[in-house]
Amino acid sequence: MKKIALINGVNLDRLGKREPQIYGSETLPELVSAIKAEAEKLGVEIIDYQSNVEGEIVNKIYELSDAGVELGIINPAAFTHTSIALRDCIAGASIKFVEVHISNIHKREEFRHTSLTAPVCHAQICGMGREGYFAALRYLASL
Ligand code: DQA
Repeated sequence: MKKIALINGVNLDRLGKREPQIYGSETLPELVSAIKAEAEKLGVEIIDYQSNVEGEIVNKIYELSDAGVELGIINPAAFTHTSIALRDCIAGASIKFVEVHISNIHKREEFRHTSLTAPVCHAQICGMGREGYFAALRYLASL
């Protein structure tokens, strides 16, 4: 069965509690289980991981890449705008990532307009709320 990594970065463990006017009221466990249910229908397996620690995400991506996972969905959250380490990791790992942002980062503060990670990802989706994760999943499952 095709495996798809689902990586969520810093503060996304606070979904549902954190700025719900921007990120919605659904918690991360609720969102992940909905994504897994959709993945099951599509015949793919989701391997999910969240961390607030940049280096832990880097380690997990290499671990998954070395284990043969080839596809992934990543919301690096604030690491998107700050992390050269994560960018280098994505560039060096052999996972084709779709970068997802719940909010439209281009409509928000200027510091969110730059993604250090998008240029090393296969595609980016932003501003579609939780639907962005499902669009990324359907796309990757179709490859
Ligand atoms: C986010 C957008 C980022 O700018 C922000 O730091 C986040 C979430 C999003 O999903 O909209 O934490 O990645």
